[in-house]
Amino acid sequence: MTRKMLVVGNWKMNGMRAHLDEVDAIGALASAHPSVEVGLCVPATLLMAADERKGGAFVGAQDCHMKETGAHTGCLSAAMLKEAGAATVIVGHSERREDQREASEHVAAKAVAAHREGLDVILCLGESLETRDAGQAVPFVLEQLAASWPEEAGADWLSIAYEPIWAIGTGRIPNKEQIAEMHGAIRGAIAELAGAETAAAMRLLYGGSVNAGNAREIFALEDVDGGLVGGASLKAESFGPIIAAAAA
Ligand code: PGA
Repeated sequence: MTRKMLVVGNWKMNGMRAHLDEVDAIGALASAHPSVEVGLCVPATLLMAADERKGGAFVGAQDCHMKETGAHTGCLSAAMLKEAGAATVIVGHSERREDQREASEHVAAKAVAAHREGLDVILCLGESLETRDAGQAVPFVLEQLAASWPEEAGADWLSIAYEPIWAIGTGRIPNKEQIAEMHGAIRGAIAELAGAETAAAMRLLYGGSVNAGNAREIFALEDVDGGLVGGASLKAESFGPIIAAAAA
């Protein structure tokens, strides 16, 4: 089973109109590396403008509401994001699970809502340092996967991002063995949830302090099909080598 490498930038709450030059440059990098699917999840305020300037990349959003419309002040539906240019949405990022107290059942509902509108979904999972140190990382993440698993999930629209919370924005990353163990366990669990064919086709991304120096080694691991990249995706200069590593 060959899975196309997927490298997605997550700009989080960063990015103003002045940063759209970076979108141009990242779009050009994406065009130069057609063997890699490159995405940029920008703040919703930049979606429309980024969509115009995305080149060979796709643009995405960082969250969506589970409902189609209604009295949900401040929220955005999947249909709105799609209309603004999003092709993908991240759901269940640990920063939302923590800051907005999103439960796994809500994450699953958001993924279903996004898929209903024709958006692809990147579903995030990851353990805290406390859980890792207690030796519970794998069971914790598999439980989170099962609880967040959207109905009728398919490899054609859903990807999973394993992002240990302690590795996000910290410069610390798990070692190769830890990443390989977790990704292998996730793929095994997907086989249980959705069958071997779906498990073999679904892309599993690693996220957490991916940079130009470590991307190549991480992407070379068998069950790693790309990355979800925060800080290093803000500039084409630092994102470019990561895209190139995925193409290698
Ligand atoms: P980081 O963020 O690359 O800055 O660690 C990754 C993420 O949270 O998606």
